[in-house]
Amino acid sequence: ISLENQNLLDASGWVTKLYHHLLRYTKDGKEGYQYFHDRGITDDTIDVFQLGFAPNVKDFTAEFLQKKGFHQQILVKAGLLSLNEDNTITDRFRGRVMFPIRNHLGKTIAFGGRTISDQEPKYLNSPESDLFQKGRILYNFDLAKKHIRKQSEAVLFEGYMDVISAYQAGVKNAVATLGTSLTESQARLLRRYVDTVIICYDADKPGTDAAYKAAGMLQKAGCEVKIGNMREDMDPDDFIKEFGAEAFQHQVIKSSLTFTSFYMRYLKKNYNLSLEGDRIHYIEKLLEHLATIESSVEREYYLKEVSDSYNVSMDSLIQEIQANREKMA
Ligand code: UTP
Ligand code: MN
Ligand code: MN
Ligand code: MN
Ligand code: MN
Repeated sequence: ISLENQNLLDASGWVTKLYHHLLRYTKDGKEGYQYFHDRGITDDTIDVFQLGFAPNVKDFTAEFLQKKGFHQQILVKAGLLSLNEDNTITDRFRGRVMFPIRNHLGKTIAFGGRTISDQEPKYLNSPESDLFQKGRILYNFDLAKKHIRKQSEAVLFEGYMDVISAYQAGVKNAVATLGTSLTESQARLLRRYVDTVIICYDADKPGTDAAYKAAGMLQKAGCEVKIGNMREDMDPDDFIKEFGAEAFQHQVIKSSLTFTSFYMRYLKKNYNLSLEGDRIHYIEKLLEHLATIESSVEREYYLKEVSDSYNVSMDSLIQEIQANREKMA
């Protein structure tokens, strides 16, 4: 590790402690503490994730780090300070609750800062650096790793708060992609530790689109994929807050859908099934997917569902599937 990167890590470490201390023990961080409290986050959880608060002061962090002897240039590079157009340097994160992003060894390499007052963007993240490449890390992987390995299963979320709420609800094999789509590198990382990944993204349009894509990446990497049984238009954190930990574990995680069940629902959204033509196209498209399933028992299981739902004979479905499989071969 280069001297510069070591400096970056040291500075990020100090700032993690500073923001966490402010939030937990001082008047300057009280708004932040109140914010997490209102979202149902306990003191223990705040400590585990080293959550913090960056005060709304333009050079609070700059002064703190200067006293510790860091050069401003490094801190700008680390994304802790911003170089403005008029060449002044100010704190990057102001008036935000702070989520340290740790590398796989537990060291802070970046931050996400959430507004507590409807500022844009909702989450401001550190810029990418030598140490922080979004597509190469998974949020919370360091803490989740031993649980992931033990269960040979990981639960993949979209956001910081989803992971933190899940963890607090006892789902400790929780990691997140931080909003961006899952990369091949992240899929391979997971594959090294698990057989199964449960994708538990937000149940809105962007979330289900992203889940569909992530499922493909994970299957390509050799993982078995399931999809959390999320309620329409909620995210995992909303669900836990509304229905509690027990319900989340049983109704969402343990009741995960197979990829095919998810796909059947997902695909439906692109068609108007009250129209006969759409209905036929939907079934044809679905059969293309079902044809890729190797197990004939599994294939028939879903075909039966299609047959019952759309009143198409099993014979013709099986015929169509055979034709599709011959095309593939
Ligand atoms: P969401 O918009 O679903 O936010 O984005 P959230 O996680 O539910 O946040 P809360 O509950 O309102 O606090 C999912 C993830 O996408 C990234 C963050 O990592 C976020 O957790 N994101 C989102 C950003 O990086 N920037 C943004 O402005 C928004
Ligand atoms: Mn602490
Ligand atoms: Mn979302
Ligand atoms: Mn969300
Ligand atoms: Mn949310």
